[in-house]
Amino acid sequence: MKKLDIGLPDVQAVYDGPEGVLWELIMGEQIHVGGFKSSMELATKAGIKAGMHGLDICSALGAGCRFLVKNFGVTMTGQDATRTMLQKAGERVQAEGFSGKIEFQEGDVTTILSPNSTFDFVWGEDTWCYVTDKGRVISEAARVLKPGGILAFTDWIEGPAGLSDEEANRVNSFMKFPYMENQRGYEQLIRDNGMELISSDDLTEEFAGYVDFYIKMLTEQLTFDALKIIGDDMELFQAMGGEMGNMAQIAHEGKMGRGRFVARKV
Ligand SMILES: C[S@@+](CC[C@H](N)C(=O)[O-])C[C@H]1O[C@@H](n2cnc3c(N)ncnc32)[C@H](O)[C@@H]1O
Repeated sequence: MKKLDIGLPDVQAVYDGPEGVLWELIMGEQIHVGGFKSSMELATKAGIKAGMHGLDICSALGAGCRFLVKNFGVTMTGQDATRTMLQKAGERVQAEGFSGKIEFQEGDVTTILSPNSTFDFVWGEDTWCYVTDKGRVISEAARVLKPGGILAFTDWIEGPAGLSDEEANRVNSFMKFPYMENQRGYEQLIRDNGMELISSDDLTEEFAGYVDFYIKMLTEQLTFDALKIIGDDMELFQAMGGEMGNMAQIAHEGKMGRGRFVARKV
C-alpha cells in the first residue's frame, strides 16, 4: 500500500486548529468511535484492573486517561505531540481533580518518553492511523511494557475488501492519515515485536454505521455549531460533507473500517 507524504506537522495542524474542535463536537471528549462503550469493551477485553499503571499513546484531550482512572482505578501517563491537546488535557485533569493520578508527556509517539518496562498496560484508541511508522509505535509499546504487560488498542484500518490506490489516496488525504494498516498487518506487527496476540476483532461493519451517524448529526442537529467552528464557511462544510459521504460509502463496501487488538508482552 502506497504511503502518503503526511507527517506529524500535518496532524498537529489538525489538532491545534478548528478541525480538532470539530472532531470533539462530533465525537465528544473521547475522540474515537463508540466513546464510552468502546473504551469499556477494550478495557474489559484487556483485563484492566485497579492499581495498574497505564500509558495512553496519543492521549489527545486526556479523556482516555480520565475514563480509565474513573472506571478502573488505575494511574495513567498520556503522551501526545500537539500542544493544544496537551494544554486542554492538563486543564481538564486538574478541573476533575485527577492531577495526582494522570500525567502527560509531550512528544512524537514513535519515541515513548518512558524507560523500559514501566507500564502494566499500553492503550491506544483510534489514533495510530496518523502515524507513518506503526511498527515503531508497537515496538516502543513493547519496550515500555513490563513483562506480561498488556497492549490494547483500536484503530481505523483498511477493511477486508481493500482500497484501490485512488480510494486510499482520497480518504487518507481527507483524514490526514499517511496510510491505514489492515487487520492482518497489525497482527503481524504485534507478532514481529515479540508479543502474543490475545484477540483481534474486525469492527468494520459497525464502523460504517458510525460514519452514517456522524453525518446525520452534522446535517440534522449540529450544522450551526460546526459552521461556527469553521468560520461559517458553507462551501467548506459541504466539501467536508462530500468527503464524509465518500467515507461512509467505502466503509459500507468493507474497504475501510476499524479493528480492536489485545496482546501480551511475553
Ligand atoms: C483522534 S485523536 C486521539 C484520540 C484519543 N485516543 C481519544 O480516544 O480520545 C489523535 C491524537 O493523536 C495525536 N498524534 C497523532 N500522531 C502523533 C504522533 N506521531 N505523536 C504524538 N501524538 C500524535 C494528535 O496530536 C491527536 O491528539
